[in-house]
Amino acid sequence: MVVRQSRNRREPREIRGNATRLEWPGRNWEPRSRSLSLGAIRMVTTEEARNAGTSGDERVPSAARLVHGDALDVARALVSEGLEGHVDLVYIDPPFASQAAYVHEARVDGPADGRVVRAMAYDDRWEGEGLGGYLDMLAPRLEVLASLLAPTGTIWVHVDWRASYFVRLMLDEIVGRDGFVNEIVWRRAPNLGRQAASHQFGRTLDTIVVYGKSGARLVPPTRLEPIAPAAIRWDPEGRPFTAAPRGDYTDESIARLEEEGRIHRTATGKVYVKYFLVKDDDGAWCRRRRVDALWTDIAPLRHSSPGERTGFPTQKPRALLDRIVTCASPPGGLVLDLFAGSGTTGESASALGRRFVLGDASPLALATARSRLLRAGAELTLQECGIPTAACSPNAAEGPCISAGREGERVRVELRHPIEPLAWAVDTRYDASRPFRAVWHSERVPGARARRSFRRPLPQAAPAFFPGADRGRRAVLFRRV
Ligand SMILES: C[S@@+](CC[C@H](N)C(=O)[O-])C[C@H]1O[C@@H](n2cnc3c(N)ncnc32)[C@H](O)[C@@H]1O
Repeated sequence: MVVRQSRNRREPREIRGNATRLEWPGRNWEPRSRSLSLGAIRMVTTEEARNAGTSGDERVPSAARLVHGDALDVARALVSEGLEGHVDLVYIDPPFASQAAYVHEARVDGPADGRVVRAMAYDDRWEGEGLGGYLDMLAPRLEVLASLLAPTGTIWVHVDWRASYFVRLMLDEIVGRDGFVNEIVWRRAPNLGRQAASHQFGRTLDTIVVYGKSGARLVPPTRLEPIAPAAIRWDPEGRPFTAAPRGDYTDESIARLEEEGRIHRTATGKVYVKYFLVKDDDGAWCRRRRVDALWTDIAPLRHSSPGERTGFPTQKPRALLDRIVTCASPPGGLVLDLFAGSGTTGESASALGRRFVLGDASPLALATARSRLLRAGAELTLQECGIPTAACSPNAAEGPCISAGREGERVRVELRHPIEPLAWAVDTRYDASRPFRAVWHSERVPGARARRSFRRPLPQAAPAFFPGADRGRRAVLFRRV
């Protein structure tokens, strides 16, 4: 690898973006050329989905989109749709060049015998020395994603020690060095086991590299930090405070703080800034501190509730995405994650009132995210981009198979094969000219307690539905989702 840097500081900012150039053997990417050249890439809507139990055809296309496709195709299609310059937050958690293949594990409901269904989620193995293939994958995707940013937007790239230094150099080249906002270090695991026993400091950290457009302004949250009783003082009005040296506050700032009653002078005349205290839920006095770029207060996923864990490998905690979405996008803003995995970004954006587009190339990621987002109450438009629609053939010996039988006024549809899908759904008014619309779906609930009497992994039969089935024939389609 070679890094080249232009010394011409008089170039305008847009050109200075190119001042850094990372070379790798066989580098196959030139900025502002092929990545942005648009072919006829379009999204095709395959399904409009809302949560089980709701029916009716009067559906408005939703502001939440889940797209099956390569991030490059999806990002280019969004550019063709005119979204360039309109995205408030791009968060991606792409492969890390970990040279591992990741497997999704879902516990089979039924007796708690430890059985799990395993399926390949995605592959993070790259050929060749120097990670050239990985860099050739990532660079054009970063470039098109960055082009979608609004003038106040930011791009967050979640990686670890393996790729963070490459990502910084690539974003220097794409956005410009002036676009650097933060390198956030998230402690994703405690220093235990093999990491702690190794002859080095534990690699327990992930890095989130943040770059932004010139108008980008993040709003970091605050957190409560307990104050030792010995450091608590009381002012004449009986308010508890703690004091800290003035640090780099200017004289003007000190004068302003003085007016606010926030300056404490010692007997020798030394100036300290007062921080008034508040009680936390446990009744301890705390100082409210703005969060900096070292995030040690977001627990790893394994400490989250079983209901949050989807079984998707490399899923990130919801609290992490809640912090990012809150501080980097306005309410109603547009959030984009095209390496979406289990859909954490979408769940967070939906709960926080943001619009979102999620994408992923893995069908298993899509299925996981779809179920998760529907459970969270999102109304989704599912789309495909650059990937042919998978054939859905109920009669194929290897493929999914259903049977249907009359039950009085109604029809009961039963899934015979496969018996352990992650989820399945039924559209009782299927019409090939419009997207699939599930009126019923069944899915694995992560963390659900096993019930002895219920041996089957999922409800395999759609409950009685579509009254009036006796009036002529109806096409019914089911999808393994
Ligand atoms: C680290 S996981 C994302 C996990 C996610 N943040 C979560 O909380 O579940 C990376 C994802 O990127 C997807 N991926 C890998 N290469 C891709 C590509 N070229 N285009 C779109 N998705 C891709 C994988 O299928 C995988 O789901």
